[in-house]
Amino acid sequence: MNRLLQVEGLVKTFGTTQAVKGIGFNIKEGRCTALLGPNGAGKTTTIRMLTGLLKPTEGKIEFQGLRPGEDQRSLLGYLPQSPAFHNWMSGMEYAVYAGKLCGLSAGEAKSRAKELLGRVGLADAANRKIGGYSGGMKQRLGLAQALIHRPRLLVMDEPVSALDPIGRREVLGILKELKEETTVLFSTHVLHDAEELCDDVVIIQSGQVALQGSLSQIQSDHRRPVIELKLEDKESSMEWARSFVERHQTDDAWRMIIEDAHLEDRTLRLTVLDMEKARQALTEELAKQRVGFVRLEAGYSSLEDLFMKVVGA
Ligand SMILES: Nc1ncnc2c1ncn2[C@@H]1O[C@H](COP(=O)(O)OP(=O)(O)O)[C@@H](O)[C@H]1O
Ligand SMILES: [Mg+2]
Repeated sequence: MNRLLQVEGLVKTFGTTQAVKGIGFNIKEGRCTALLGPNGAGKTTTIRMLTGLLKPTEGKIEFQGLRPGEDQRSLLGYLPQSPAFHNWMSGMEYAVYAGKLCGLSAGEAKSRAKELLGRVGLADAANRKIGGYSGGMKQRLGLAQALIHRPRLLVMDEPVSALDPIGRREVLGILKELKEETTVLFSTHVLHDAEELCDDVVIIQSGQVALQGSLSQIQSDHRRPVIELKLEDKESSMEWARSFVERHQTDDAWRMIIEDAHLEDRTLRLTVLDMEKARQALTEELAKQRVGFVRLEAGYSSLEDLFMKVVGA
């Protein structure tokens, strides 16, 4: 698959803060890539360097097919984290204005604006003032603006993070359609949004890439058998669970079958090395110690478990 964008050893230092510490990744043509990481990980800084708004301290950003002297902005459409709109303009006026800024003729800008406002579901609201738009509508207008010059890569910084549930649905729905037509890179701190939209993921933490690859590959590479045990609301059961978390790594028999134990509220979550042995040993232990529980479930770790582990949350 063609690489549309290649990033190598990207570094950005602000005074004494190193916000981005040598990030490298590729964006493949036709794919949707999520830049995923907690707040402060360096997502916005990375994206601003890709869009040319911020000069990298070090590193290489290469767009495929860029002619010498041509600006990368002609290839990419950008929706910033908090886009600023002129509230007194109508959606149509704003989209036309954005088109002209990108070098479209007045006629082209107008027909393209009309087409895109329809595409993002704003045809009926096109002549209303932006000041009266909902958050979801503003974000959809931002999408129309970003796409006005038919970019090869659509870059969005936290496109749904600030929206209410309805706005999120509206925008996610449109993004699902757009990603079928355009190469997309978006950042998010919400794992669920990445899972819902992306093919590839670059997980960043403290300015560095912690993990990257296709979502399906990462999922299958890191899938571990897990047992979840929901305990009865009784002090003796909780006492047993707390002591189990303490001793599972010091007790030789348990260490051979359980990799990790974690207690959250009344649920004990065990990442196991051998599901059959673990299930048997655990049922015996529960009976012997008279531990009351309401549910025991065997399954697999989720991407969320992996994300939590990788970002150290
Ligand atoms: N202009 C700036 N000056 C100083 N520090 C900055 C600036 N921009 C970002 N940072 C710092 O760089 C780190 C990464 O920020 P950012 O790229 O905004 O992260 P994210 O978008 O993942 O939340 C943070 O510690 C932030 O405080
Ligand atoms: Mg950010």
